[in-house]
Amino acid sequence: MKNSVILLVSRNRIFGVYLKRLIESWGSPAVFTVSEAGEIAEKIRQYTPDLAVIDIQNEEDKDLLELEVLLKENHNIHSVLLIPDELIDILIEDSDEMPFGFVPKPFEENILKISILAALRISKAQRELQADEEFLSTVLECMKEAVIAIDDAENIVMANPRAEELLSKKISEFIGKNFRDVFVFRDFEEKEGVELITREIPFEGYLVANKNIPVSVNYSQVRGKNFHGWLITMNDISERFQSRKKLEESYKHLEKTLMGTVRTISKIAESRDSYTAEHQQNVAVISAEIAKRLGFSEDRTKWLYIAALLHDVGKVSVPSEILSKPAKLNQFEMELVKLHAENGYQILKDIPFPLEIAEIVRQHHERLDGSGYPIGLKGDEILLEARILAVADVLDAITNHRPYRPALGLNVALDELEKNKGKLYDARVVDACVKALEEGNLVIGSLKENDEPY
Ligand SMILES: [Fe+2]
Repeated sequence: MKNSVILLVSRNRIFGVYLKRLIESWGSPAVFTVSEAGEIAEKIRQYTPDLAVIDIQNEEDKDLLELEVLLKENHNIHSVLLIPDELIDILIEDSDEMPFGFVPKPFEENILKISILAALRISKAQRELQADEEFLSTVLECMKEAVIAIDDAENIVMANPRAEELLSKKISEFIGKNFRDVFVFRDFEEKEGVELITREIPFEGYLVANKNIPVSVNYSQVRGKNFHGWLITMNDISERFQSRKKLEESYKHLEKTLMGTVRTISKIAESRDSYTAEHQQNVAVISAEIAKRLGFSEDRTKWLYIAALLHDVGKVSVPSEILSKPAKLNQFEMELVKLHAENGYQILKDIPFPLEIAEIVRQHHERLDGSGYPIGLKGDEILLEARILAVADVLDAITNHRPYRPALGLNVALDELEKNKGKLYDARVVDACVKALEEGNLVIGSLKENDEPY
């Protein structure tokens, strides 16, 4: 009770002074006032009382009941009323709500003391609760995230103003409703609606409101004394989403530019030798088909496709008379042609491709038994991509015209692959290639139909 300031209101000055002395003898500073409104307001401003004791002398003091309501509503000050015993029924029956506390007169001093003490405690607890609530509501109002609390039945029990903004709806329109009926989400790919609770969290998607708003959603389980449910937070990520989209677009544009450049280089290399026109394109298509059958990822397949488009780029440094010589090459000429594998590596090695494109190109004439060139690598020393290129290269070379011979046909190519399967060529790669041919995914002579998948 100490340090709690009590405001005393009585129209009986003598009784008021008595009360003031009595209360002060219990250790509380007491401020006495008659019931004049201006004076009360001044005392409240000056002393910020914790509690009021309002003395009702007779029925004419009935208006002081309104003072009790006014103090509570406008100043958050609770009151204890002193009411003549015979008026209690009349006054309290007439009033709209029970007063915070009352003591019948005549009163015993101890009863008044206990009533004031109890009222101070309750009032303090209520104020603390109110302060907590105000703090919480200020925090929720200031949060940039939408915050929504749902109970275990998924009904919305609380939402902050940001949630209203995102939905373009007043809280009163959706409080108490089922979360899934109010908050509808869609994948960024605009597919099915998202089941929030069963979905992996956190997730990002569109919140379907007036317009689709990209949001990131998170939630945590709440297991409190009085509340079981979920706290869901939602962030508008429009800005981040836009920059991500721009980045994706510019990446796609870059990739397109890269593919265009690769094709141009590929065609420049082939232009020196009309007999091998589209050879690299064909090998790229065959390689990609084999890679898919071997379980390559989309990305790895794409980089193999690019390596295939460039695999003979080293031929730019081989004289075109040799490349298009309509007769079998002598040993010296053959050695010159063989240089194209290493030359291709030298041309490509400084381009920062994500995969070892240059190394794959260098190894495309290596053979499992070590009989290939330029290094004579064996078995697994040869990159799988290069082993695929080797098979695709042989298949396309045998089934097409060469300056020194006509096309030999698919059967000759298959004989060569089967005969040397496991010896020169990787058995798994040959099998995948043969299967693709048998199943009609590769049709020699019509490879252009698979043209430019990237
Ligand atoms: Fe080659």
